[in-house]
Amino acid sequence: MATRGAWGSNIGFILAAVGGAVGLGNLWGFAYSASQGGGAAFVVLYFVFVLFVGLPVLTAELVIGRHTKRSPIAALAAVGGDKVKWVGVLFVLVGFGILSFYSVIMGWTGRLLLDFIRGAVPEQTGAHFAAISEGPGAIVAHLLGMLLVIFVISRGVQKGIERVSVILMPTLFFLIAALAVWASTLSGAGPGYAFYLQPDFSKLFETQTITGAAGQAFFSLSLGMGAMITYSSYLPGKGNLPGKAGLIALSDTMVAFVGGLVTFPVVFHFGLQEDVSASAIGALFIAVPRGLLSFGTAGQFVGIVFFSALYIAALTSAISLLEVVSSALIDSWGWTRSRAGWVAGGAIALAGIPGALSADWVGFLFQLVGQAFLVFGGLLLALIVGYLWKDQARAELLTGFDKPALATGWIWLLRRVVPVMLAVTLYFAVIGLGPVARALFE
Ligand code: PHE
Repeated sequence: MATRGAWGSNIGFILAAVGGAVGLGNLWGFAYSASQGGGAAFVVLYFVFVLFVGLPVLTAELVIGRHTKRSPIAALAAVGGDKVKWVGVLFVLVGFGILSFYSVIMGWTGRLLLDFIRGAVPEQTGAHFAAISEGPGAIVAHLLGMLLVIFVISRGVQKGIERVSVILMPTLFFLIAALAVWASTLSGAGPGYAFYLQPDFSKLFETQTITGAAGQAFFSLSLGMGAMITYSSYLPGKGNLPGKAGLIALSDTMVAFVGGLVTFPVVFHFGLQEDVSASAIGALFIAVPRGLLSFGTAGQFVGIVFFSALYIAALTSAISLLEVVSSALIDSWGWTRSRAGWVAGGAIALAGIPGALSADWVGFLFQLVGQAFLVFGGLLLALIVGYLWKDQARAELLTGFDKPALATGWIWLLRRVVPVMLAVTLYFAVIGLGPVARALFE
């Protein structure tokens, strides 16, 4: 068997993992969900959920990955026995499914970036988006994006994923910070912040807000499908895993939060509240470009920065998704990395074509694999680590982290709190499938 990849440095791992986590979910899903869920009420719930559910599951994934040094299928078999190997198989399929629609959205982002660069975004941003989001143009953008992802994956963990993340992630942080500063100068900043940061507590107890926060947190942190297991399988044996998990979760949450500091002023400045509540996609790809157009050249420049940031965020997440599928092929069948990357990436590229022909299909897949299956995966992980593997999990956690009381608390959360929260979330995620499935046939 070929030697396994390994990270060149700790910061390289952190940036790659943050790159996997920070994606379209942060810059698009978070602000949208917040706007639907009572602003700050949602934000507070989201933080609570990240802390008590997201962080324990993220830590569990890092612990499994580093302990087994295997991709998810072999890793779960090592942890819970052959009877749970199917969970690893499910993870790989979910990675496949998510990337098949994620790459389509990434393609839309790339297309709008190109249009902003060429100064070719028409006044009718709605009609424009309808034209570019479905059809040959969308297919080409999706396939080009997949080529880029395959290229990075086939170069390897250190020379591909790590190198790209080390360059792109600081760039992304800078772009987002610059956008937030720009947004603060808009006259809509006041009302935008007010809406974002003043809680409407009546929404706090709506099940939709609660489960929306949970599903959003899972998608945003890339949990429940083995991306974090895969990345941590390239870590050396020692080091403080809860510290790493905390840093990853904090960075991801910060980016989502700052993303809101960009989005809400823009939305209120241009009076786009209506467009935004119509749909999440509408907010990002129709309302924001429309607002920016009215700014002339300055708006064009901001548009380039905004869609560059989105594209970078999407690309590094797409890389982590393909790595899950590729590493499974490498570990299970002894394939070379480039063969695994090309075959898996090629299959996903094909599977993504329906999404490039129908935005409703993208919406449906997001709800199915991007929400329901991630939450299901997180639930299974918590049960496996909390019940089948808890003594070794504890020992692995305490390697490089000498806080037995926190380890006890972690196991307790995985056994008692996480499964209950995720089971409830799963129930609502499954119910939420109905409307999006119906949209397919309208
Ligand atoms: N976390 C990514 C985002 O926020 C999406 C993702 C989910 C990536 C699951 C990998 C695995 O966009």
